Amino acid sequence: MIDIHAHILPGIDDGPTTMREAVEMLRAAEQSGVRKIVATPHFNPMYRWFNYRSDQLDALYQELCREAKSNGLSIEIYPGMEIRASDEVPELLSANRLQPYHDTRYLLVEFDNWESEQWCKKILNTLVSSGFIPVIAHPERYEFVLDKPWMVYDWLEAGCEIQLTKASILGRFGGLIQDISNDFLEREWVSFVASDAHGVDHRTPEMKSAYDFLSKYYSSDYATKLLHDNPQKLLLGQPLEKG
Ligand SMILES: [Fe+2]
Repeated sequence: MIDIHAHILPGIDDGPTTMREAVEMLRAAEQSGVRKIVATPHFNPMYRWFNYRSDQLDALYQELCREAKSNGLSIEIYPGMEIRASDEVPELLSANRLQPYHDTRYLLVEFDNWESEQWCKKILNTLVSSGFIPVIAHPERYEFVLDKPWMVYDWLEAGCEIQLTKASILGRFGGLIQDISNDFLEREWVSFVASDAHGVDHRTPEMKSAYDFLSKYYSSDYATKLLHDNPQKLLLGQPLEKG
């Protein structure tokens, strides 16, 4: 499996606080069958997570890669970022201050719990017309989406991709979020399922449960597509197969 959304860089957002915990998260990911994982620290100035691209951030990423190796892990770590949508994001991207997925045109984009539908559409259209492919992080968790779930279809039509979170599909955020996750899965609106891991004890990087759930209630082909094939294409910067 390939996990495209994980907070595994220590000490810079609400993910692990220490390098030791970060390595334990990587170990748990690897033990559950994850071979590649993307480090997606928050870029969210509203929460004071100012994780712009920098030599410092790159050094931390390199240090985590070294620590993983020296602790006997073979999981590969790729660079990414969970970018909180704002009017400033297009300019920050063109100034190379934010980190797309592994230097492809794919971007992990997060919204707040309450946003205006029109503003979301505007910002996503701006990103798409600049050549980016926004991957919307966990739309099933936003209250404004629960109100009007069909807006997700408009995002797909606009050229975006959808990432659901493991805990949502397993029902750990409640029945409503699980129901809407299943609705999106049944409509085949979903391109990726990821851990959105934050630690070793809860919101973990373990992904076998997601694979088992998707295989049991959908099919092993669908599980493989969402947990391996599409993530692999994303890392290579290739278009996803549709239909
Ligand atoms: Fe996240």
